[in-house]
Amino acid sequence: FNVPIPVNEPVKSYAPGSKEREELLNTYNELREQQLDIPMYIGGEEVRSGKTATIAPPHDHKRVIANFHQGDASHVQQAIDAALAAREQWANMPWESRAAIFLKAAELLAGPFRARMNAATMLGQSKNAFQAEIDAACELIDFFKFNVKYMTDIYKMQPESLPGMWNRLEHRPLEGFVFALTPFNFTSIAANLPAAPALMGNVVVWKPANTQIYSAKVIMDLFKAAGVPDGVINLVYVDGPVAGDVIFKHRDFSGIHFTGSTGVFNHIWKTIGENVGNYRNYPRIVGETGGKDFIVAHKSADAKEVAVAITRGAFEYQGQKCSAASRAYIPSNIWEDVKAYVIEDLKSLEMGDPQDFGNFINAVIDEKSFDKLAKYIDAAKKDKGVEIIAGGNYDKSKGYFIEPTIIVAEDPQYVTMCEELFGPVLTLHVYDENKFEETLELVDKTSPYALTGAIFSNDRYAIEIASKKLSHAAGNFYINDKPTGAVVGQQPFGGSRASGTNDKAGSMLNLLRWTTARTIKETF
Ligand code: SER
Repeated sequence: FNVPIPVNEPVKSYAPGSKEREELLNTYNELREQQLDIPMYIGGEEVRSGKTATIAPPHDHKRVIANFHQGDASHVQQAIDAALAAREQWANMPWESRAAIFLKAAELLAGPFRARMNAATMLGQSKNAFQAEIDAACELIDFFKFNVKYMTDIYKMQPESLPGMWNRLEHRPLEGFVFALTPFNFTSIAANLPAAPALMGNVVVWKPANTQIYSAKVIMDLFKAAGVPDGVINLVYVDGPVAGDVIFKHRDFSGIHFTGSTGVFNHIWKTIGENVGNYRNYPRIVGETGGKDFIVAHKSADAKEVAVAITRGAFEYQGQKCSAASRAYIPSNIWEDVKAYVIEDLKSLEMGDPQDFGNFINAVIDEKSFDKLAKYIDAAKKDKGVEIIAGGNYDKSKGYFIEPTIIVAEDPQYVTMCEELFGPVLTLHVYDENKFEETLELVDKTSPYALTGAIFSNDRYAIEIASKKLSHAAGNFYINDKPTGAVVGQQPFGGSRASGTNDKAGSMLNLLRWTTARTIKETF
């Protein structure tokens, strides 16, 4: 079990004039001018259905950068067949060989694939260079490396034996195939959802979000270059219900690794329930879903720190991180200072094409998301008891751009304080500084989700109270820090309540779900 001890991948700065910046820009510009024809990948074959749809950058939606081939139920069936055909050889491969493949993927991504993975994420998902780097390069490299380490930690888990007896646990892959249903907002998550079960010896059918297919293709190229055998990970582009109809009825369906909305996950759970009894095994259901992540400040908090947490925590990647702060509770004594700092900071944040490295804010992912956000903003412009103190403008003529927007609501249960918007809109409630505990109770009561949350305070008693009262309101709880930016190996990530099954990505807890142990007792 002597695998290299992982170190988190250092984040490149892409400083003006640096070689890495020039390489990234050149790659971005080259990709932008190409019109890729993106096939599905089934059993190692490129599959072209002939029925294509276009991909355009969210910040430049009239420019076609690729076409992808849409599949149907027959492609899903082919992907399952290819996965099951590859299963025996892959599941029986020594773990060292599986580890070597994913350690090689990490090295390739740190080197020759880095610029392409980042550029694809900037272009296809409208992330700025820094956000692409911490996601598509660093977080994904970390997932590959740390998961190898966690795999060996699992294999090391063995029971006691007595003289004349040897007891052991054999940690085996699941019997069947795993379905990875992945989101647009993190290239690293989209890759890790198929990669983590595959590392543990499972075979996978992978369906990405349509809005992430552009970088999914680069991930497939990376898997191939690293030596993932044909059929181990199969990539198809089909409508969710079409895929679900084939997958959730299949006897060999052994688990789902999901990141997406609570509604879709609830539907999946019900469908699996309806089919239970038809499966060879009870499937593993692992999902990270919605969130309504909070920042609560105590009267002892530093106003400037709170303001920075709001602007970074709510607006990095246009508020489209599942961890992004979308509601804040600020005590009256520091409110005027927080407000002044936030407004000043927002003035310095530029918005536009990710190609210009100075832009902090790029476009939201698609028109549907843009229209939904614009609707909430328009309502807030008219509703009584709410005020927009920053942003509030939007424009979709070239790209789906929405200004970072802060709504102040008198009613802590105003609609945007409660519903998940998934965009650059934060709603804030100013509370009586002497009502800290009542405010914590309110935060907990209005948290059907429980993904991330942050408390800012310089009073240790206040921190303790918040930590207890909000014990189940966030799976990732931050003290005096913004609620985004969990690092693999440092802050295992995931939430409970309506935010998911809390099987912490980037930890042994997640990988445990992709094994099924056999206990062996042997006597001598
Ligand atoms: N891991 C990401 C973060 O913490 C969210 O998925 O921001």
